[in-house]
Amino acid sequence: MQILQGKKILLGISGGIAAYKTPELVRRLKDQGADVRVVMTEGAKAFITPLTLQAVSANAVSDSLLDTQAELAMGHIELAKWADFILIAPATADLIAKITAGLANDLLTTLCLATAAPVAIAPAMNQQMWHNQATQDNIKTLTSRQYTIFGPGAGAQACGDIGLGRMLEVSELVELTCQKFANITEINHNVNKAKEQPLAGQKWLITAGPTREAIDPVRYISNHSSGKMGFAIASAAQSLGAEVTIISGPVNLTTPLHCEKIAVISALDMHQQALIHAPTSDVFVACAAVADYRIANVASEKIKKSKDSMQLNLIKNPDIVADVAALLNKPFTVGFAAETQDVEHYARDKLARKNLDMIAANNVAAEGQGFNSDDNALTVFTANDEKILPLTSKSELAKQLVQHIHQTQQHLLKKNESKGH
Ligand code: PMT
Repeated sequence: MQILQGKKILLGISGGIAAYKTPELVRRLKDQGADVRVVMTEGAKAFITPLTLQAVSANAVSDSLLDTQAELAMGHIELAKWADFILIAPATADLIAKITAGLANDLLTTLCLATAAPVAIAPAMNQQMWHNQATQDNIKTLTSRQYTIFGPGAGAQACGDIGLGRMLEVSELVELTCQKFANITEINHNVNKAKEQPLAGQKWLITAGPTREAIDPVRYISNHSSGKMGFAIASAAQSLGAEVTIISGPVNLTTPLHCEKIAVISALDMHQQALIHAPTSDVFVACAAVADYRIANVASEKIKKSKDSMQLNLIKNPDIVADVAALLNKPFTVGFAAETQDVEHYARDKLARKNLDMIAANNVAAEGQGFNSDDNALTVFTANDEKILPLTSKSELAKQLVQHIHQTQQHLLKKNESKGH
């Protein structure tokens, strides 16, 4: 069955050069069985004509809030109620700002306020405009209001710049829309969800807790990780049917039911175990707070307090998550980023540098979250996407994260299958 069969999709088009791709987008959505209605801003009409979109959608195109004839045919509130899903593509920086501000000074912005349907936006703009803090703040606000952001993609832009800001390709937008409906269907079937085991047959490998780097037989270097976040992820994945192995540093926690725990002490131990188990895992989540350095020469006897000062010579530990991500048969690899400043910048840097599929960033300087607390908040990045999981208990957060990992992993698998990998 076509995944969008009978679904009512309202396509909002704003005034960007990528608007020229929208007739193809309408056609591909219709190929998937969707009924598509188009709403255009004034700016959009400078790039593409309503007549073209009327022809391909086989529906009248709406472009004015104050058109009495159009209001008679299908008023703006009716249109807002009609939609199962609103997709705005391309979404210009200006339109994004208007929606964020809650403006309703044209038909499209009014519909965004008046609808109860999920809304996804596909940003399209110059890379500098995309990176501008104002746009980034608007995107963050919309994400926190449950808007979904499709893209943007990177590459050469109409203005000659190269970078992030291109509207995603039509095929990607259709795929993400299908995926969105698959998710909505999943939510609608919440009642049966408890019985469902979407992760059945999958092996999840999770690192958790701190590592300890010995100085001598009685002393070590470590950190404040309690293991709560990693164990909560293990529990959430297990309750959805996954076979879960936790590689854990020293923690004071009960191992979640039906999860296997491999206890380790140092980063080297954790590295060794991770590389043994990762090749047969489907998903690897690196939640452990691994010591970046270890003592170069661990003293075999307790160091005596003979001098007023002393120096420890440290050497770099192997990067576990990067080494797993470098495996030929690597699992879907999720890293964490514990940051105290410039969270997004450092998280995205780790995502790219360690070649991860996803990274979950937390601000460990914020009060009441992060290390050794019961609550946490995450911003989860992939190369093209960003999802905010607001402050809540670690167990609730873990459920949301596991769902998000699963959906993204499935999407990637399907994408690779269709490419014949
Ligand atoms: O355990 P809790 O008290 O519940 O706290 C949870 C947490 C704050 C520890 C957790 O949410 C978290 O942020 N874990 C990652 C901590 C960390 O080490 O972050 P990092 O930014 O330094 O490392 C980036 C990534 O590389 C992490 O996935 C880390 O596991 C991994 N790494 C780091 C160093 C190393 N040698 N090998 C690694 O695999």
